[in-house]
Amino acid sequence: MKGLLLSGGRGTRLRPLTHTSAKQLVPVANKPVLFYGIEALRGAGLTDIGIIVGDTHEEIEAACGDGSRFDVKLTYIRQAEPLGLAHAVLTAREFLDNDEFVMYLGDNLIINGIKELVDQFREERPNSMVLLARVPNPEQFGVAELEDGKVVNLVEKPAEPKSDLALVGVYMFDKNILQAADSIKPSPRGELEITDAIQWLVDNDFRVNPHIVSGWWKDTGKLEDMLEANRMILATLEAKTHGSIDEGTRLEDRVVIEEGAVITNSTIRGPAIIGRNTRIEDSYVGPFTSIYHDCHVRSSEVEHSIILEESRILDVGRRIEDSLIGKNVTISRTQIRPKALRFMLGDNSAVGIT
Ligand code: DAU
Repeated sequence: MKGLLLSGGRGTRLRPLTHTSAKQLVPVANKPVLFYGIEALRGAGLTDIGIIVGDTHEEIEAACGDGSRFDVKLTYIRQAEPLGLAHAVLTAREFLDNDEFVMYLGDNLIINGIKELVDQFREERPNSMVLLARVPNPEQFGVAELEDGKVVNLVEKPAEPKSDLALVGVYMFDKNILQAADSIKPSPRGELEITDAIQWLVDNDFRVNPHIVSGWWKDTGKLEDMLEANRMILATLEAKTHGSIDEGTRLEDRVVIEEGAVITNSTIRGPAIIGRNTRIEDSYVGPFTSIYHDCHVRSSEVEHSIILEESRILDVGRRIEDSLIGKNVTISRTQIRPKALRFMLGDNSAVGIT
C-alpha cells in the first residue's frame, strides 16, 4: 500500500502569513502541517510516499528532502496545473502502479494519526473508504449523505448541504479510483473533483465505506483556525527539555524546549513549545503558545499565541494574547518622542489596540 500526499495547488499569498506561499508548510506547534501528514502515513506503516507538487515544488522539496529524516521514501510528482484532486490521482498513475493507496491532503491534520483507519481498510477491503467529520459549515466542503450507514451521495461544496458530514482530507482507494477519475468531467470550478470520482464508484456499485472521525483540522488561513490547530497539537505533546534553563526559571505543566533554546529568569506554563535557539529572558510564556526558532522574548508576556521564526518581542509591558506574529517581526517599547504607536505591518495584518 502506498501514500499519496497532495501538496500542489497554486502558491497564494492571500493569507496572514506571507513568507511561505505553500500553505502546506504553515507551522503548527513549530512543525509544518505537511510533516504531520508524512508522519501519519508513516505511523500507518506506509513508507512509499508520492508527493504531488505544483508551483511551490521548490519550497516543498527543500522542506521534505528525500524523506529519510521521516524514515520514508518520497517521490515527487509534478502536476503542471492544479486541475483537481482526481486529476492529481491521474497524474500519479505511474507511481501508484495499481496498488491500494491512502490519499492525504497536505493542508489537513488528523489528530492521533490514521493507523486504525488504514488497518480497518485493509481488513474490510472496500474499494474506497472516506473519512467524514461533522462540521457547522458543510457548504465549504465535500458533503456526504449516508443511508443505513452506507454512502449514497457525495457533493462538492453544495449550496444547500443535505447533511453536516464533511469529507475530511484523507481517503483510501484501490485501483478502481483511476477508472473513476478517467470517467468524470470537470466541475463548475473547472476541477476534476475526487468527490465526483467517489460518486462514480458509488453509482457503479463499488463499495465505499464511511468512517466518522473527530480531531480533524484543515488550514483555512484564518487566525482562529491556526490557534485551534496549535492548541490541539500542543495538548498532545510531552514535556522535553533540550535547551538550557537557569535557576530562576520555572517550567510548569508540559513544556517542550528545543535544542539551543536559552531560558533565563522566566516562567513557561505549558502546554507550550519554545523553538531552536530561541531566547526567553525575564518573561512569562503562557499556555497554548508556540514560539518558533531563533526568536527573542525579553521582559514580556505572551499567552495563547503563535510566534514565527526570528521574531523579537522586547520589553513590551502588556500581555500579548490570541496573536499570530509572523516571521522576523519586531515588537518593542521605544523611548523615541513623540509618544506614539509606530507600525510597519505587512499585507492583511490586523492589530487590536485597547
Ligand atoms: O480539506 C477537505 C476538503 O478538501 C474536502 O472536503 C473537499 O471535498 C475536497 O475537494 C478538498 O477541498 P478544497 O477545495 O479545500 O481542496 P484544496 O483545493 O484546498 O486542495 C486540497 C489539497 O490538495 C491542498 O493541499 C492542495 C492540493 N491540491 C489541490 C488541487 C486542486 C493538489 O495537490 N492538486 C490540485 O489539483
